[in-house]
Amino acid sequence: MLSPVALLHWFLPSILMVLMLVKDHVALVTGSGRGIGRAIAQLFAKEGAAVFLTARTEKELFSTTAEISRNGGRAGYVTADLSREGDCTSVVAAAGEKFGKIDILVNNAGHYGPVVPVEEYPLAEFDSVIAVHLRAAFLLSKLVLPEMYARGSGVILNMSSLSAKAAYSWGSAYAAATAGMLGLTRVTAAEGARKGVRVNAICPGPVT
Ligand SMILES: NC(=O)c1ccc[n+]([C@@H]2O[C@H](COP(=O)([O-])OP(=O)(O)OC[C@H]3O[C@@H](n4cnc5c(N)ncnc54)[C@H](OP(=O)(O)O)[C@@H]3O)[C@@H](O)[C@H]2O)c1
Repeated sequence: MLSPVALLHWFLPSILMVLMLVKDHVALVTGSGRGIGRAIAQLFAKEGAAVFLTARTEKELFSTTAEISRNGGRAGYVTADLSREGDCTSVVAAAGEKFGKIDILVNNAGHYGPVVPVEEYPLAEFDSVIAVHLRAAFLLSKLVLPEMYARGSGVILNMSSLSAKAAYSWGSAYAAATAGMLGLTRVTAAEGARKGVRVNAICPGPVT
């Protein structure tokens, strides 16, 4: 099992290329109250980016932004349930209001869902896992891309998973959502490449 910090070191070479460029940029990081998203927000802030955080749990968002501010970084947050279209719109509007623009979107929010076989998987739970991973990544990308294209620059990083590439039993919605994110990433990357926007996905294994 890798810790979030160990994960970042694993991806250090590619992340360093980004970090050298993040100073004075604005990053919207979803699912950033805890876990991997929190580590990404902290590292981006340390490297000089203004970070805008979002998730459902205000206490975690408050403590992460407070910690970033105490360390001299710039951070803001808004609570949102990203499985709702209206909340996705509000998050992008709130980030723009706070920092004026979004240079980097990290679609990290997610949850694994029930650990049950396909035939027992409740449809509502299936929809909810797809909504927070795949649908929110699509909606947020749709919302930030027009301004990125107008500026001729921007980065979208989609958090997928090894589950997108290999069969782990009892996680059908998660596997479908994270595999869908790879398809979304490829298409958005192809569309964005000629307009100055880089779109990547990463596929971590288990992270504590
Ligand atoms: N940990 C791993 O082993 C692993 C491996 C591969 C990929 N990943 C992916 O990496 C990402 C982060 O994982 P993690 O381990 O850091 O998970 P985590 O610690 O559970 O954090 C997930 C974050 O997403 C937020 N979130 C969940 N549902 C949300 C919703 N409906 N609306 C808004 N925010 C929501 C959570 O906040 P609230 O609950 O407060 O909303 C939390 O901030 C996920 O996409 C996960 O699938 C993780």
